[in-house]
Amino acid sequence: MIRIMGYIKSAALESTGFVVLDPYDKEIDPKEWLEIEYVDWKSSGDTRFAPLASAKGEIECNGFWNHEPPRTDKDGVWIDEQTEKAPTLTARAKEPGANVGRCRIIELQPNSYADCLYNLHQDDNNRLNPDGTGWVVRGFFNLTDDKDSYFVLRENRSDPSIEYRIALPAGAQLIVDTQRLWHAVHHQGDEPRYCLITSWESGPELDEYIARYNGQPTTEYYEISEEVREAGQAEQARRDAARAAYYAAKGQKEKLAMSEA
Ligand SMILES: [Fe+2]
Repeated sequence: MIRIMGYIKSAALESTGFVVLDPYDKEIDPKEWLEIEYVDWKSSGDTRFAPLASAKGEIECNGFWNHEPPRTDKDGVWIDEQTEKAPTLTARAKEPGANVGRCRIIELQPNSYADCLYNLHQDDNNRLNPDGTGWVVRGFFNLTDDKDSYFVLRENRSDPSIEYRIALPAGAQLIVDTQRLWHAVHHQGDEPRYCLITSWESGPELDEYIARYNGQPTTEYYEISEEVREAGQAEQARRDAARAAYYAAKGQKEKLAMSEA
């Protein structure tokens, strides 16, 4: 555990901004993510979310800072009618014993590598987070078996020189400082991908959990061809330029805010 800029952070995430945990090796009934209520909520890509914990225990996904009184992404209120349909997922989110903020299942439709690069974003995880407390990071537990889908993590959005690609078979588990790393998923397949996302407060509980499941910054990276990489990079640049031109034509400054999703 280390302190940087007044926040408590995990030393395990310091070098790369993420760790991969040992895979989760038990079966979970897909009903836990299929028979639960989703709300349309725009994140990167074509997504819906099913919240398990929210600001006030209602089935909605808004940032806690947009509620009254505004607060940071901690002390999420469990939503009984959702958690009773997803008991295993709820238990997994609670397992570290770290403070939980938002907790929800994401449903992501298939996309391309270029879409993923265009969707790369940072999360606004620590708005209103008091100095001296734990930095909020996110856990990702892949639920569907998406062996040919992968997380893309970059230090800089448009710079491919540092790009981690983490495959997402069922049971893949990552913890990511998503406010530091630019991130998005390239989901290849015909069916949606489902993943449990939990905001956790950094601190001794989370450190202990990372150690227990052998969290490491790097594992094997999903291989892609030079052609795919170059085409994706060119398409990201093309869409970025188109977006900049769109705002310039309206006389507006381009918005590059962190994601509130
Ligand atoms: Fe994100």
